[in-house]
Amino acid sequence: MKYKIFKDSHPIMRKKSLPVELPLSKEDKETLDFMLEYLKKSQDEDYARKHNVRAGIGLAAIQLGILKRMFVVYYETDKGIVQYQLVNPRILETSIKKCALKNGEGCLSVDKSYEGYSHRYYKIVIQAFDALSNKQVTLSATGFDAIVLQHEYDHLDGVFFYDRIDKNNPKSTFAGEVLID
Ligand code: NI
Repeated sequence: MKYKIFKDSHPIMRKKSLPVELPLSKEDKETLDFMLEYLKKSQDEDYARKHNVRAGIGLAAIQLGILKRMFVVYYETDKGIVQYQLVNPRILETSIKKCALKNGEGCLSVDKSYEGYSHRYYKIVIQAFDALSNKQVTLSATGFDAIVLQHEYDHLDGVFFYDRIDKNNPKSTFAGEVLID
């Protein structure tokens, strides 16, 4: 493997990633392709066991030590496969309503498990260049999909999911907050 996954103990993980130059360079596209492949393979049980990797559904460039504002997501839902290679994403809108994953979030860069709710916006509108479809996209996401995008977006600003857990009251919720299985 050409890259390794940086852990949260590495100081670079707290840095703010820098905007990516468009049109995308060949090198950046190759990095994004590698990242997407990495996620796909990590979800293959045999591969994951053999190579001792954890299954992931999102990965930001900074997790490979690359300080650029880009991330990929890959996962399957009842509605089909969700996959993007987002570059220079911007969150345009957020809902007042909050949500959180009932069992908490995980991250390929975080080995420790953290109890508690990482509070997220229930709905977001995000704009980015998607290198997978090779066009500018505006995505409107809710619930689980919105959480995944916010988790990855946070990496671009050096933020981890556990930063969003209330340390004094990890299982507290906001009024009307939706807990997702
Ligand atoms: Ni993560």
